[in-house]
Amino acid sequence: MISRRNMLRIGLGASAAGAIGGSVSALAASPSAPAPAAAGPVTPFRVPLPVPPVLSPVRRSRSVDFYEITARPSRAEILPGVATDVLTYNGSLPGPTIRARAGRRVVVYHRNRLEDPTALHLHGGKVGQRSDGGLMRYQVSPGRRRRYAYPNRQAGATLWTHDHAHHVAAEHVYRGLSGVYLLEGEGERALGLPSGRYDVPLVIRDSHFDDAGQLVWKMDDAMNRTTLTVNGKPWPYMRVEGRKYRFRLVNSCNLRIFLLTLSDGSPITQIGSDGGLLAKPYENPMLVLSPGERADVVIDFSRYEPGTELVLKNLMGPGPTEQVGQLMRFDVGEPVPDPSTLPERLTTLPDLPEPTAERTITMDMKHDSASGTHHGLIDGKVFDPERIDTTIPFGTTEMWTVTNNDKTLPHNFHTHLVNFRLVERDGNPVDASESGFKDTFLLFPGRSAKLLVTFDSHRGVFPYHCHMLDHAAMGMMAQMEIV
Ligand code: C2O
Ligand code: CU
Ligand code: CU
Repeated sequence: MISRRNMLRIGLGASAAGAIGGSVSALAASPSAPAPAAAGPVTPFRVPLPVPPVLSPVRRSRSVDFYEITARPSRAEILPGVATDVLTYNGSLPGPTIRARAGRRVVVYHRNRLEDPTALHLHGGKVGQRSDGGLMRYQVSPGRRRRYAYPNRQAGATLWTHDHAHHVAAEHVYRGLSGVYLLEGEGERALGLPSGRYDVPLVIRDSHFDDAGQLVWKMDDAMNRTTLTVNGKPWPYMRVEGRKYRFRLVNSCNLRIFLLTLSDGSPITQIGSDGGLLAKPYENPMLVLSPGERADVVIDFSRYEPGTELVLKNLMGPGPTEQVGQLMRFDVGEPVPDPSTLPERLTTLPDLPEPTAERTITMDMKHDSASGTHHGLIDGKVFDPERIDTTIPFGTTEMWTVTNNDKTLPHNFHTHLVNFRLVERDGNPVDASESGFKDTFLLFPGRSAKLLVTFDSHRGVFPYHCHMLDHAAMGMMAQMEIV
């Protein structure tokens, strides 16, 4: 159950709960719903958690690591014994992990072996418009290749790569085109956080399978995407040693919002969010992760008896609790020597900048009953790749008030190019989990938030959108030009 305190924390205040009563219960995991027919039910915690491979550079120069990533169809065993058609980066699901270091550039040669155009987006990366993946004119046609350059001049963070092709990104990401990009910050190593094989990405997805075990792609199909996977496997288990681990949680779902807890009721120690480390670790009683958001967490398994089975639970629907109520299980082993540390101070966040301009942004969904279709709107308009919606002078700091005007649907807000600081949610200070650098945040119906953002890395045209990608595909996207 979602406690009142936690509802308030995540911006789902009492009044909002009243106003959206119907949809809140639709969102809650339902204990009695029947399990849908699928390619045989999956028994949870039977498959070990795989860790996506770390990609090796094809070449290194003094200041640059060069990589090759090919988008291509492949098959993957997601459900036991079934080969599912998927789209992959380099044949792997999820895609391979790039490990980058702040101050050292990365160049990715991205080859398109799909039937559609593709574009590679480094979500959370401060990159120029030609390498951002967000502009139609820089897409990669089938059979072609494109060079993406990532400066890595920003704080260390859990970033991720995903497809951003116009109109088809939602389907491409759904079918598998995403991967993790771990940017190590300057001085991060000296913190002594768990590293190497104790620093593990956990990429969370939900899927809808047909009876033959193939992925069903239908827009706005969250209700039926009830098979949850971590790193490409449904409800896996992970054998862990009795020591600290660092986990990089990435919500790569198109629509699903997670409220994550541990089955023993202990809080999750969060050390970072989208754009990097928090100032200090935060004992988070319930981790909220909407599509596109990341959380950097540490779990110390030495506090459990060997043999303990610790489940990472999810309190939010839609879907039957037996399915969507849990993600994976940690099977705790013997204690081992642990040289890693969890410092009390992780980083120094800069003072909040002074805004020189204010702006309001609204998000909404419109149902067109004549055609039976939904349109996603930002400031009342459906996305038009030819239109610039917002013009911003380079170097300025702005205060944006973003409001979800929808009466029933949650949305979330993501900007390319910049990290921002959330300063207020409906007049209240933000939760510690959102006190660091962010690039994506959730807004329940009727809610609003204020953010401070400085445009000082690149000029050019970049999108901002709802990261519930089905909504973005329905038009809930706009463009800003930094001039
Ligand atoms: Cu992950 Cu346009 O974003
Ligand atoms: Cu992005
Ligand atoms: Cu949305």
